[in-house]
Amino acid sequence: MTRLITRRNFICQSAAWLAMLAGGRTDRIAWSARGSDKGAVRIIFYTDVHARQEWDTPAALDKAATAINAENADLVIAGGDLITDGFQSTGALAAPRWDAYMMMHRRIRADIYPAIGNHDLVAANPADGSLPAKDPRAVFLARTGLEKTHYSFDAVGYHFVVLDSIQITGDQYKYHGNINREQIEWLKRDMANVSMNTPTVIITHIPLLTAFYSASQGATSPAPINRVVANNIDVLNIIKDRNVILVLQGHLHVKEMIRWQGTTFIVGGAICGKWWRGSWFGTPEGFNSITLTGDHVEWEYIDYGWQARRPKHK
Ligand SMILES: [Fe+2]
Repeated sequence: MTRLITRRNFICQSAAWLAMLAGGRTDRIAWSARGSDKGAVRIIFYTDVHARQEWDTPAALDKAATAINAENADLVIAGGDLITDGFQSTGALAAPRWDAYMMMHRRIRADIYPAIGNHDLVAANPADGSLPAKDPRAVFLARTGLEKTHYSFDAVGYHFVVLDSIQITGDQYKYHGNINREQIEWLKRDMANVSMNTPTVIITHIPLLTAFYSASQGATSPAPINRVVANNIDVLNIIKDRNVILVLQGHLHVKEMIRWQGTTFIVGGAICGKWWRGSWFGTPEGFNSITLTGDHVEWEYIDYGWQARRPKHK
């Protein structure tokens, strides 16, 4: 049946759209997928927090936590770079940034499943010349309460896999995007433990797939080795015959969606936007609301309304 567009319902629809835009809801995209028959799951995926103490940013994190709680999600996934610049800082310098992040983390009511980002490593390569930490992942693990930086879990018939995409190197890039051999072997075993049809979501800080460099720097521009997972094919080969409906990615601070061989790859913007300077390539400070149902996925990027206060010269 064709619905008649009257002036009255046109005005009502317009009002609803304006309310949505005023609330920071600019996009809602839905597509078909083979989900779980056990029920729908509502996820908040936030990434690239870059917590620190400067420029009133703890107030931004408080505002983000309030907006996340208002969504009443079933579970929350954090995509890494929870703090800023841990990699080149000593433990003492990074501690107040972790304190700022944990204020937000503790305020969020739903269970949070974090992935590690490059900034979350502490004292991997201290800029002051002091010795690197024995285990630069130790602070991330202690603060989040995780045993490992790669793990999987299940919820309402969905399988979730969290990967550690950071490889510390001594070269000019300091780290590469890489899923190490131990994880590749673990991922094969982990995926073998669930049926081929199990709807699966993979989380990785550094993207497996992105068009960011060809879109922003020209079609033939390659991504640097510290901006994408260089051995992405190792992972894509494992998942290619499986029902991986989503790959949630961070690191690039833009919102982006790519569909490849039945899997949707999302880069989920950033809580800090352009490193606390506002929007980055049109993506404001925000997070993702994702609903997984039996036959489709819905994705929406939510601007939580922070106005950047970082001075221009910093
Ligand atoms: Fe990052």
